[in-house]
Amino acid sequence: MSIVSKINDFMSRASRLLHGGGEASLKKQHLKGKMNARERLDTLLDIESFFETDLFVEHIAQDFGMKGKQLACDGVITGFGMIDNRSVAIFAQDFTVAGGSLGKAHAGKIIKTIDSAGDMGIPLIGINDSGGARIQEGVDSLCGYGDIFFRNTRLSGVVPQLSVILGPCAGGAAYSPALTDFVFVVDKISQLFITGPEVVKSVLGEEIAAEKLGGAMTHATTTGNVHFYAKTEKEAFQQIKKLLSFLPSNCQEDPPIDKNPSKPEKEIETVNAIPTNRRRAYDVKKIIKGVLDSSDFFEVQEHFAKNIVIGLGRLQGRTVGIIANQPYVLAGVLDVNASDKAARFIRFCDAFNVPLLTFVDTPGYLPGMVQEHSGIIRHGAKLLYAYSEATVPKLTVVLRKAYGGAYIAMCSKHLGADFAIAWPTAEIAVMGPEAATNIVFRKEIQESKDPETTRQKMIQEYEDKFANPYVAAARGYVDLIIEPAKTRETLIKAINVVKSRKRPISFNRRHGNIPL
Ligand code: HXC
Repeated sequence: MSIVSKINDFMSRASRLLHGGGEASLKKQHLKGKMNARERLDTLLDIESFFETDLFVEHIAQDFGMKGKQLACDGVITGFGMIDNRSVAIFAQDFTVAGGSLGKAHAGKIIKTIDSAGDMGIPLIGINDSGGARIQEGVDSLCGYGDIFFRNTRLSGVVPQLSVILGPCAGGAAYSPALTDFVFVVDKISQLFITGPEVVKSVLGEEIAAEKLGGAMTHATTTGNVHFYAKTEKEAFQQIKKLLSFLPSNCQEDPPIDKNPSKPEKEIETVNAIPTNRRRAYDVKKIIKGVLDSSDFFEVQEHFAKNIVIGLGRLQGRTVGIIANQPYVLAGVLDVNASDKAARFIRFCDAFNVPLLTFVDTPGYLPGMVQEHSGIIRHGAKLLYAYSEATVPKLTVVLRKAYGGAYIAMCSKHLGADFAIAWPTAEIAVMGPEAATNIVFRKEIQESKDPETTRQKMIQEYEDKFANPYVAAARGYVDLIIEPAKTRETLIKAINVVKSRKRPISFNRRHGNIPL
């Protein structure tokens, strides 16, 4: 064969592969409102930055009609690309080829990509759109999943791992995303479940629509399995770009610094920062936005466990991870879901050198049988563990209520906060004035001629004495009390002081044992 013929042969082989499962399946994919795998890569990555590997990989399956069957790229496109000029390793499953199902060769390509992400110290992005284990390949496809889970776990905390669910993701396919740091879903396109509606029907006799069982909103609001919800695939890709802009490429690097930071759109005002009535709710996101550069708060798990707010932002150009009780929802109590949500985020930030900024206004852990029986002790302990374990700089601002165990749990000085800051409106005490009065002064109240007046008097007395930051500050549990309008400038000074502080790991152990 002449060189020209060889080149032409190569071109025609490659071009066949670039068309995935062919025109009809590509059209079917579009009719479902979905992009195909190559369109997704083109949309997400910087222009012409994609460089593909393993285009010519083929399966070697023989059974169930697989012998001689050509599956372009074995149903997954793998390689590297740039997002805002920074490298990422990426794979995109191609549903137009055997439903993006995962066989041995398909898994092998993903495995190589994950390993490369680790070797190169760059984030891994997986675009998932797959019918799961390739049925014809039997145990080989199951092993493929196992090998992927092993690598996701080994890479956890080494490079950021992101999963986008852009189609069905059933059975084993759901677990690789679950092992990664952030999962993105798109309305009416993403479906995640261990067993689909058919199996649910045959095993339990229950009829449930796929969307309700494991659709995007179900996961965003109810299960907490996902972190970002988007209306369209394009919006999900924008979210990925924004998320990466806050993060380092790997655990050895610091997050990128914005060299031209802007002030918040509206800074916090001392007098109007929170309502005068200490029982009234307010939106903690206003406080967060009043502190961050350009008021730009990138919220994570916005629709799940809304009584706690988590997300990323910048303070004078430096990335911070924010955790804040939300008085607007359930008065900002800590419950099972809030504890899980915050603890995992804290551990992510700690793994990737993102300082923690905590805003506290919580009446405590949610009491009652439902929470106790759901394991609030075990789940609440995750929060204690995650904060205590974190060695990144930790700054805490007590805005209002910080009662009991929740005061300790929300990154108090005792869990290693570098600076515990309080507003004059802070109430740091073992419990709220009403509850404390009912217990401590029960006898006096019962025996008085006018119990209600006595109760109110006692509440006022307790409030004056304990519902403030001064007792804690007198003991040194609070490092400084500031007026609300000074919050941003104080936090910037604090972060500059602690930014290079490294807390040594104190015990020579294999790893701790976080309550799970
Ligand atoms: C082989 C598959 C496949 C699979 C889909 N296809 N899933 N081929 N193995 N798992 C093929 C179909 O045969 C079809 O091929 C093409 O992909 C498109 O599929 P459709 O069914 O036409 O698409 P759609 O109607 O959109 O339905 C999508 C679907 C459905 C809901 C995902 O295909 C489905 O239920 N698939 C099976 C899902 C499943 O049970 N997976 C195994 C999970 S168990 P043609 O040639 O007709 O185009 C698992 C265990 C792993 O993953 C455990 C690890 C620990």
